[in-house]
Amino acid sequence: MKKKIVIAIDGPAGSGKSTIARLVAKKLKILYIDSGAIYRAYTLQYLREEINLEEQETLVEFLERTTVNLESGKNGALIFVNRENVTKEIRSLEVTANVSLISENKNIREVVTKKLRSEAEHNSLVMDGRDIGTVVFPDAALKIFLTASIEERARRRKDDLKSAGVETDLEKIKNDIQRRDKHDSERYLAPLQKPDDAILLDTTNLAIDECVDFIIEKTLEKSV
Ligand code: DC
Repeated sequence: MKKKIVIAIDGPAGSGKSTIARLVAKKLKILYIDSGAIYRAYTLQYLREEINLEEQETLVEFLERTTVNLESGKNGALIFVNRENVTKEIRSLEVTANVSLISENKNIREVVTKKLRSEAEHNSLVMDGRDIGTVVFPDAALKIFLTASIEERARRRKDDLKSAGVETDLEKIKNDIQRRDKHDSERYLAPLQKPDDAILLDTTNLAIDECVDFIIEKTLEKSV
């Protein structure tokens, strides 16, 4: 690709964002940033320290002393909190159940948004999340909004957890996804919304490769 490009991929949990975004980045040989992983990293550290989010001074101190970094590893991105590799821990059910608390916090969103923007200063990248095309990069060259049916999304999450060695009930996963969807779309700050200028892609009946090829085609149209 001749020019620097930002590809913003948003959508609800289980819509296929991270798998698709990672493969698009790999094919285009550009950086992939999973913004949800950063919110998860702050959530993990918050749970460990049990800080009171309501106390402004405590929260500011927490954000000042907590460092979150992403690095590319052999099998995808690695995430570190205060230099400790927490790539696996951030996917736990406990982190998933508490991440909304962190991601609706104004101070935390500001810190994360700044961090996400800085990643694009010198790099072309693919970034996935909930507010990438609306808030983080409103001028992204290409915006994709992924969806899939709730049944399909729950099934995918179950498969992911199974690969990680966690057996969970499908109904429980479905309820958790619905609760998070509601929270993410109805929250006051940076709610999950399809940007007007995003391309809507329903992945329910599409193979991963079909989604990846579609996004690559759209990217090449934009970056020639
Ligand atoms: O993509 P994920 O499920 O790993 O994201 C975890 C949570 O982080 C999700 O429930 C909402 C929040 N999130 C957010 O508010 N904004 C983003 N850009 C990415 C994730």
